[in-house]
Amino acid sequence: MKVCRRATFNAAHRLYRKDWSDEKNLSIFGKCSNPNFHGHNYTLEVWIEGEIDQETGYLIDLKIVKDLINEEVQERFDHRNLNLDCPEFANLNPTAENIAVVIWDLLRKRLDPKYGLSIKLWETQNNIIVYDGK
Ligand code: NI
Repeated sequence: MKVCRRATFNAAHRLYRKDWSDEKNLSIFGKCSNPNFHGHNYTLEVWIEGEIDQETGYLIDLKIVKDLINEEVQERFDHRNLNLDCPEFANLNPTAENIAVVIWDLLRKRLDPKYGLSIKLWETQNNIIVYDGK
């Protein structure tokens, strides 16, 4: 069985490689390589897999997941420039794929190992990443 907690955050980014010219960055990353950055409204779904606790009837108290997302994701990334404000992306291109891996790693460290974890990240309504550690 799986349960899900959903959250949103807004952040700016620029996709580029320092070792490529502006022209090459623009041809590979398009609008997402705008030198003055641009924003996305990200939606995150955090899916926890486990069994129903016979004492509480919960798989996990979703308040715990809500607080975890707030501490590890929203306080860290919401209303930030991912490239400039967030050390996680100082040397990592902030694509939705890389953001998903970073978020999964942060949550995994805080979650009891008895639970499975997968996340789904919407960069736009039509671009969606799923990551479960592989
Ligand atoms: Ni973008």
